[in-house]
Amino acid sequence: MKNNVIVNADITKGKINKNIYGHFAEHLGRCIYEGIWVGEDSSIPNTKGIRNDVLAALKNIKVPVLRWPGGCFADEYHWKDGVGPRENRKRMVNTHWGGVVENNHFGTHEFMLLCELLECEPYICGNVGSGTVQEMSEWVEYMTFEGESPMANWRRENGQDEPWKLKYFGVGNENWGCGGNMRPEYYADLYRRYQTYVRNYGGNKIYKIAGGANVDDYNWTEVLMKNAHWLMDGLSLHYYTIPGDFWLGKGSAIDFPEDEWFITMKKALHMDQLITKHSTIMDKYDPDKRIGMIIDEWGTWFDVEPGTNPGFLYQQNTIRDALVAGLHFNIFHNHADRVQMTNIAQTVNVLQAMILTEGEKMILTPTYHVFDMYKVHQDAELLAVDSTFGSYEYNGETLPQVTVSASKNAEGIVHISLCNIDHQNEAVLDLDLRGVIGVETKVSGTIITADSMNAHNTFEQLEVVKPAAFTGVSVENNKLSIKLPAMSVVTLAVE
Ligand code: AHR
Repeated sequence: MKNNVIVNADITKGKINKNIYGHFAEHLGRCIYEGIWVGEDSSIPNTKGIRNDVLAALKNIKVPVLRWPGGCFADEYHWKDGVGPRENRKRMVNTHWGGVVENNHFGTHEFMLLCELLECEPYICGNVGSGTVQEMSEWVEYMTFEGESPMANWRRENGQDEPWKLKYFGVGNENWGCGGNMRPEYYADLYRRYQTYVRNYGGNKIYKIAGGANVDDYNWTEVLMKNAHWLMDGLSLHYYTIPGDFWLGKGSAIDFPEDEWFITMKKALHMDQLITKHSTIMDKYDPDKRIGMIIDEWGTWFDVEPGTNPGFLYQQNTIRDALVAGLHFNIFHNHADRVQMTNIAQTVNVLQAMILTEGEKMILTPTYHVFDMYKVHQDAELLAVDSTFGSYEYNGETLPQVTVSASKNAEGIVHISLCNIDHQNEAVLDLDLRGVIGVETKVSGTIITADSMNAHNTFEQLEVVKPAAFTGVSVENNKLSIKLPAMSVVTLAVE
């Protein structure tokens, strides 16, 4: 079947919240320690302990918001252990992730500094599973109260006079699992209680995010919305793309057969259905879509790299991950009316990372490059798209070969992002850009693709997979004619 796309440049469907390009950095493996924090005395060039190479790379992709300190770690994190002189900070065991010593050198002040340097919004996840209401309430007071109070005074003693601006606060993480193994009814009650003491001080207004469902646990969403919708601004959802079985073997990040490529694409596309169904439940209680769906953990989850600590979740990243990222963004854009933030898991050295490090060396992954190519959609107006795509067939199963989303930015430039998920065949498309194509039209594009399914960058070969100028587009009969190679992600700019 022919692939046809109509992009209606004059029909806008609301803003693509830039926070869809959010990140998540947990005290897990080498994400925070080594990946971000090396300490002021490190030989790795750093700014007040935060490594400069990673900072510069993250600044380039315009990280809008960063979630911290977990994940599962959040529900056993006691923030008071992570403030004050570093040499006096309590050492603890990171029981979830590898049983290693957590020295608390990266705490609230260091995280806020990181956000300041990245010019992004902090998104802090509080501890419901093993923390008290008082502890959570005092954390918010510590960070945001400007007057005289025990916590604000302590913050000043620790070197921060001015309160920080803190918008996003999560009340627990995965409280159906590592965050306390709760039933939704019980968590809904706890959410109501804990959030009461998450105060707005002075001009600081907190956007409260309730802990949401695991994958397709629609009952969780129903119970939370029914019992607490008026007390939340956002409700989270977690879904990971895992080709195999979570416990029996997820599949390798690099050494995988063709069928795992197909299954990975199929599972990534499942995100669309999850958003639709959870959102339909949310609509019942929130028809005006005031409450944001916050997909604060998503991405690929494979077996750890052989020989690495199983608790560190370190995996390589291939062109397959680039496709997964592109597919997700096209889905998120097309649900921009409900999806207000997403946070890929995780920023450095863990799961579907942007960046991998080894001592002072750093790799930018194929996923990083997709974030770079797609950043043009941040805060742009989503455009209405009609499309018919041919099939990508494998072993008697079919998926749409191509996915698409489009937006128009403040300067009127239209960006169109396309993913061809077929691992063998190119996709030929006619794209009718209604209301834009004319004699003066300029079209340019960027592509990321590879010759093999498992192409990836290594510390020896940094640029095996990287973006290039896209030459497979031409304007014919007032339409764009596009040839997308197999396994490719493309972003076009039409002005
Ligand atoms: O991202 C890794 C872990 O996955 C997080 O800590 C947890 O929330 C989820 O299960």
